[in-house]
Amino acid sequence: MQVDLRIQRYDPERDKKPHWEAYRVEAGPMDRVLDLLHRVKDEQDGTLTFRRSCAHGVCGSDAMLINGRNRLACKIRVDQLGARRITVAALPGLPVVKDLVVDMDGFFAKFKSMQPFLQADDTPPARERRQSPEDRARYDDTTKCIQCAACTSSCPSFWSQPSYVGPAAIVNAHRFIFDTRDDHSDERLEILADKDGVWRCRTIFNCTDACPRGIHITQAILEVSGAIVERQT
Ligand code: FES
Repeated sequence: MQVDLRIQRYDPERDKKPHWEAYRVEAGPMDRVLDLLHRVKDEQDGTLTFRRSCAHGVCGSDAMLINGRNRLACKIRVDQLGARRITVAALPGLPVVKDLVVDMDGFFAKFKSMQPFLQADDTPPARERRQSPEDRARYDDTTKCIQCAACTSSCPSFWSQPSYVGPAAIVNAHRFIFDTRDDHSDERLEILADKDGVWRCRTIFNCTDACPRGIHITQAILEVSGAIVERQT
């Protein structure tokens, strides 16, 4: 079948602002939006710019706004969209570098500020640091994050206040705050208790809806807020 693909284009060296361009591509129901983008780039316009690496929902590099919702282009198929007209734009709320590529520097700076690595102060044991299955289960959901930014860039609180650390950073803080082997939760909770931390969340659930990994992000944010309150009482 033929699919009408509308892609938001922007080349900062040529354009004053983003504009839409239309392409007609041949597609099967099992084709993914990423396949269609490649078809446009290979057969119609080699200047089309987008990121992708693994093409299997693992690296998180091809999150974009597809038919009005943040998704991974490599994970969404034409038949799942249920329409022969598909619109694709860059993730909202982040500076566009070119076409579908956004500047992720600010996003990753917030991620790094959460100290997303294990910090244990005791003497390392001879073998691995052991943890019960129950303790491991406490943060299992938030280990699934692939840092695609679909959540943060779908959050109205982030759109209105870009200094907000955003859902993805909180998810990655959660992963270590609730890890019983880690000794630096207080530092993370202190950062997240700040004005640009968890209190900016308005429980809108856009982040949870956008997450391609099905992480219960709003729930994780509420658990972190609860830990901040508990620490202060
Ligand atoms: S290309 Fe890696 S997640 Fe889509």
